[in-house]
Amino acid sequence: MHIPERYLVTSALPYANGPLHVGHLAGAYLPADVYVRFLRLMGKDVLFVCGSDEHGAAITLKARKEGISPREIVDKYHSQFAETFEKIGMSFDIYHRTSSELHHRTSADFFKTLYEKGELTERESEQYYDSEAGQFLADRYIKGECPKCSFDEAYGDQCENCGATLSPTDLINPVSTLTDSTPVLKKTRHWYLPLDKYEDWLRAYISEGELDGKEHHDPSLWKNHVLGQCKSWIDGGLEPRAMTRDLDWGVGVPAEIPGSEGKKLYVWLDAPIGYISATRQWAINRAKNEPEADPEDWKKYWMDEKSCLIHFIGKDNIVFHCLIFPAILKRHGGYLLPHNVPANQFMNLEGRKISTSRNWAVWMKDYLERWDGMEDSLRYYCVKNMPEQRDSEFTWKGFQQSHNNELVNNLANFVNRVIVLTNKYYDGVVPDFDENTLLEGNDELGMPSYHEVEIMDLFDRLDSLCESLRSCELRNALKKFMELSAYGNQFLQNHQPWKLQKEDPETVKVIMNVGLQVVCALSIAMHPFMPFGSAKIRKMLNLSPLREEGDFLTALDQLSEGELLLKSGHQIGKAEHLFTRIPDEKIERELELLQNTGEEKQEKKEQDRPKLKENIDFDSFVKLDLRTGTIVAAEKIPKTDKLLKLEVDLGFEKRTIVSGIAELHEPKKIVGQKVTVVANLAPKKLRGVESRGMILMAEDDNGRLEFVAPPKDFENGFAVG
Ligand code: MF3
Ligand code: ZN
Repeated sequence: MHIPERYLVTSALPYANGPLHVGHLAGAYLPADVYVRFLRLMGKDVLFVCGSDEHGAAITLKARKEGISPREIVDKYHSQFAETFEKIGMSFDIYHRTSSELHHRTSADFFKTLYEKGELTERESEQYYDSEAGQFLADRYIKGECPKCSFDEAYGDQCENCGATLSPTDLINPVSTLTDSTPVLKKTRHWYLPLDKYEDWLRAYISEGELDGKEHHDPSLWKNHVLGQCKSWIDGGLEPRAMTRDLDWGVGVPAEIPGSEGKKLYVWLDAPIGYISATRQWAINRAKNEPEADPEDWKKYWMDEKSCLIHFIGKDNIVFHCLIFPAILKRHGGYLLPHNVPANQFMNLEGRKISTSRNWAVWMKDYLERWDGMEDSLRYYCVKNMPEQRDSEFTWKGFQQSHNNELVNNLANFVNRVIVLTNKYYDGVVPDFDENTLLEGNDELGMPSYHEVEIMDLFDRLDSLCESLRSCELRNALKKFMELSAYGNQFLQNHQPWKLQKEDPETVKVIMNVGLQVVCALSIAMHPFMPFGSAKIRKMLNLSPLREEGDFLTALDQLSEGELLLKSGHQIGKAEHLFTRIPDEKIERELELLQNTGEEKQEKKEQDRPKLKENIDFDSFVKLDLRTGTIVAAEKIPKTDKLLKLEVDLGFEKRTIVSGIAELHEPKKIVGQKVTVVANLAPKKLRGVESRGMILMAEDDNGRLEFVAPPKDFENGFAVG
């Protein structure tokens, strides 16, 4: 297998239809930025591209709701995203957008090539059409009852209750979200990518890392949850997928193709091609500024075997990047396929799923305004809690603690002590020392000297940190970084230079010299995670900021040769505040803002409450048989996000009941919970499990879901009514 010489790293293009929150940051952006900065520090040739995803039904839907044009929506979010990313320190080489002319051209040409090569099959099908609005309905424009779990707000492409993938015709009682009318089926023609025909090579690509019979990548380096999702898709049977839509916003199907009128490219065809058009735009921009650069330089990153392509995304994007986009690239020909797709899972907030519609989020824009100058603290906390292998949790208290205990007490404290003491003892000049000065506790005579032992240890620690970064284990790498800082503190604590300085200044020189090397090493290792703080430490050391041109590699080489990172005689600068404590009030304020999301929003939520249903007569009511019960066992139903299989004791018998509460209630925590059960509901099969009854739950405006339960000392089986 080739060792990559060149990297093209991408972060998922965010939809320009709503603001960014910390879940986005921790999912697809921060991990990519840390990784890219690290690669650059190791002297690699890397290009990091991203941009706004400005097409798709969600954008037209939002525009329609707000009574403005899609263009206005995407312009607003595109500039907001660009600013947010810049402020939080995302080091994209380009931040592009899919509404650009270059992107339209690039993706339309892509489609044309696929079409001309005969890779697309044209098919007529019946699709839902809204006669009042006079248009075909994208999947997201249709709502109805889920055939699998009976949830009545399922979308045409997916049920958000049970997670099932649907197509619009699966819905029971479909309704157009544009006009609330019942859509009718009407014939339309579209072009399909026959994914079913690619099953064999896609399986080899995913499971063996093989492409065209050759080794392409090492699948053991892919995350398990990514491989798992891909395999279960392939095993479930791949089906031809439509690559066009009847829409009026998006990239048009090239006019020279017969039947192109009114047809737009499917957003999941055009968006990933956005990575290509972004790379092209980067090359064009660079060629304007640098005489040796060529506008065709983008090809090196996409077509040269020595390059590798890495996509950072969230878990909801896995199949598109691991199966569909690779299929598109391969059938087009000439392009490299993804080398790794280190997708992250989701980050929750204070025990609940982040939700844009419910305003349950830490919005990036708000954070940057209210926590100005504390970008690194968020980066730190989000890497520390990155949902690398499983969902993780953002809590404001956790944020405060990690900042105060780790960044202030550990890191800033250590750096400050070394800088202050160096200024105090040596007027800020890095002390020279006698190689043979031995410190207490070191009774090894002969070589290596005490100082050398410490430097070797420093090398080992940095090397191991690099290993974690190389394999994209960012949480681990960050842990090693903090351990290095803790070690520095411990080192000072053990030797207490402030006590020794009077009687043994020679030994103190060795101690302080080691301390300074550790501070310098920290300034380098910190850079991928916290670039702003790194620059501050460099300033205190009177060193220029890192250039991301192999600086880390150079430092490792120096240390392995026994060379110092900071030479004796170097004049450092003065101590400055690196991080300051976060007071409780600031956190309480955030929690308040999160809970009462403003009166206006509260009102809106109240309007969103389900409308009062029609009256029923008394006879209908008494037909309902409600009973008290207790949950005695609970487990998640595999391959669903929401469903729990519960065993409920009703006193006279035990029942199996399926309940859609898995996202908000952990199975092991609800065993023993008292419940009220609709005991005479007709049995229903959900995901192969027969559910006999229903548990009563109450939902508040923020989506909190709690049991409507009898008192704890009530027995099971009592009538409720
Ligand atoms: N806009 C999509 C999302 O936010 C991601 C698109 S990634 C791309 O989920 F590959 F299509 F660009
Ligand atoms: Zn469902």
